[in-house]
Amino acid sequence: MCGIVGYIGDKNATDILLNGLESLEYRGYDSAGISVLSGGHILLCKERGRLSNLREKVAATDISGNIGIGHTRWATHGAPTQINAHPHANKAGDIVVVHNGIIENYEVLREELKNEGYEFISETDTEVVPHLIDYYYNGDLREAVTKTISRLIGSYALCVISSREDGKIVVAREGSPLIIGLGKGENFIASDIPAVLSYTKDFYLLNDGDVAVITENSVDITDKNGAPSPKDIYHVDYSAEDATKGDYEHFMLKEIFEQPAAIKRTLIGRIDENLQIDPVEMNKEFFEKVDRLYIVACGTAYHAGLVGKRAIETLAGIPVEVDLASEFRYRGPLISEKTGVILISQSGETADTLAALRLAHTYGSPVLSITNVVGSSVARESDYVFYTYAGPEIAVASTKAYTTQLVALYLTAVAAAEITKKTPQNLLDFFKKEILSLPEKVTEVLNLNDDVKKLAERIYKELDVYFLGRGLDYSVALEASLKMKEISYIHSDTYASGEIKHGPIALIDDGTVTIAIITDKQISGKTLSNMKEVIARGAFTVGFASPDCEDCEKTFDVYFKLPKSSPLLAPVAAIVPLQLLAYHVSCLKGCDVDKPRNLAKSVTVE
Ligand code: F6R
Repeated sequence: MCGIVGYIGDKNATDILLNGLESLEYRGYDSAGISVLSGGHILLCKERGRLSNLREKVAATDISGNIGIGHTRWATHGAPTQINAHPHANKAGDIVVVHNGIIENYEVLREELKNEGYEFISETDTEVVPHLIDYYYNGDLREAVTKTISRLIGSYALCVISSREDGKIVVAREGSPLIIGLGKGENFIASDIPAVLSYTKDFYLLNDGDVAVITENSVDITDKNGAPSPKDIYHVDYSAEDATKGDYEHFMLKEIFEQPAAIKRTLIGRIDENLQIDPVEMNKEFFEKVDRLYIVACGTAYHAGLVGKRAIETLAGIPVEVDLASEFRYRGPLISEKTGVILISQSGETADTLAALRLAHTYGSPVLSITNVVGSSVARESDYVFYTYAGPEIAVASTKAYTTQLVALYLTAVAAAEITKKTPQNLLDFFKKEILSLPEKVTEVLNLNDDVKKLAERIYKELDVYFLGRGLDYSVALEASLKMKEISYIHSDTYASGEIKHGPIALIDDGTVTIAIITDKQISGKTLSNMKEVIARGAFTVGFASPDCEDCEKTFDVYFKLPKSSPLLAPVAAIVPLQLLAYHVSCLKGCDVDKPRNLAKSVTVE
C-alpha cells in the first residue's frame, strides 16, 4: 500500500527519497511525491502515475536539500491525481506531511477547520493533518503533532517537516508501520525496511502511539503518554541484494524458484534429521493452553489456513475454524481463553489481521502468529510467533510466502499432535519425513516450467478460467485461481468439484478452460467424474494430478504429473506449477507481473 521514506543527514535527500520510494514500488501505488527542506525553505514536487514521472519532474526542477520526506500513494480518498498525491501542506506551505493509513474522522475535522478559515485543495483525508498542525503550532512542532494526533481517529504513519523548525523530522505511528533507520550523522525513516536497507541495517521499530523527533544525530521517542519510549536496536541480517531481481525477469519468477531454499529455511532449527522438533521454536506451550482453534488470515494466507485446518485436525485432533480476518473481526466470534487463535500474515501488517489479533486478546485468547516479517506489528503483539523466514517477498502476488506458511502449519500440526497424542508416533514420524522431503518435491515440480509455459500460450487469450478440486485440492484451487486473476486479470472462479453440477456447470461451453487438481487417490475418481461432466459440455480440460491417478492421462486434454506425496502434504508441490501458469499467462498478456493493477503488497487499510 502507500510507502513512506524520510531522510535527515548530510547527503542529498532527493536521491535517497527517490531510491527508497523505488524500493517500495512493489507495495503498489498510483502517485508519488517528495518534499525537501533547503535553506530554510520547503520545496515540494509530486506527480501522478509511476515514479519515473516524478523523477523527470524532480530533474527538471532541481530540488535538493539535506532533509526530506517522500511518499507513494495508493488512492483511498480521492482519485489518483497530482493534487491528491502526498506530501500535503498547510496554506503557507511551511508545514508538510506524508501519511499512510486512513483518518476516519477527517470529514468532521475538515468542517471544523473550514470554520476556522482553513482552505482545502485536495479530496484526501490526509490534508486535515498539516492544517491541524498549523492550528496547534505554538513554537513546538512535536507538541503540535502530539495535539494533532490526539484528534485523529483511524490509522496513521505520519512524517512531518516544517521550515519553522529546521533540522528535524517529527514522526508518529498508530496502526500503520513506521521504522527509523540509524546511521552515523544521518537517520532514515520508512514504512518498510527495504526502502533504506542499502544505507543501514540497524533500526528502531516504532510502536502504536509513539511520537519521535529525529535529527541527524539523535532519535527521541516518546510513547502515547509522552513518557520516553526507549527501543532496542533491531539488526536485519538480509541484504539489499536479497530484495533485488538478480538474473530473473520478475520478482515473482525469482520467488517461485526460491521456494525450495525458502522452505529449507522454514525447517531449519524447527526439526532435525532425527525427527526431533524444538519445543520452544514450535510453540508447544501454546497448544497446552487451548482446546480449540481459530485460524484467521486474508487472501493467500487464508488459503494456507484452509490447509492448516486439515493438517491440525487430522494430526492433532483439535477442532479448527478458519475465518477471513475481515469477517472474524465483526462476527462476534465465540472464543475464550481456551480458544487459540492462529494468525497468518506474510507482512504482519495487514490491517484486518492485526484487528483480529487485538480482538482475540480482548477475549483472553492466546495468539500464535505465523509471519514472514520479523518485528512486524502482528509478530510484536502476538503471544507466540512462528517466523517463516522465506526472505523478502517483493512481488505483490504471494508465492514463497504461501508455501512456507503451509510448511509452518504442518510443523505446527505436528507439534500439536505431540501434545494431544492423537496420531501414533510411527505415523507422525512418517509425516515428519515427508515434511523434510518437501524442498526436493518442489525442486522436482519446478521442472514442469517449460510445459506449463506451453499451456499458458494455449490459454492466455481466454476470458474465463475455472478451477476445480475436492478437499485439500479445493484449497489449492482457490489459491491457483487467486494467482490467475490477480496478475493476469483473467476472470477466474473456483468450485469444489462436487458443487459444479449445482449451478456453475451452466457456465461451461465449448472450449471453456477448466483446470482440476487431483492429489488424493481416495477421492480422485469423484473429481474425474465431475471432469467428465464438464468434458461432455465441451470444456478444454487440464489436470494437475499425482502419479497414481490412473485415468488422468486419458481424461484430460493436457495433463501434468505432480510428485508422489501423501495427500496431506500435496498442496506444497501442487501449487507451484499453478503459480508458474499464472506467471506465464500474465507475461504473455503483457501485464505488470510484479505490480498488478489496483493491488498493494501490504494492505494496511480496512
Ligand atoms: C495474494 C496476496 C494477498 C495476501 C493478503 C494477506 O497473492 O498476496 O492475498 O495474501 O493481502 O497479506 P498478508 O499475508 O501480508 O497478511
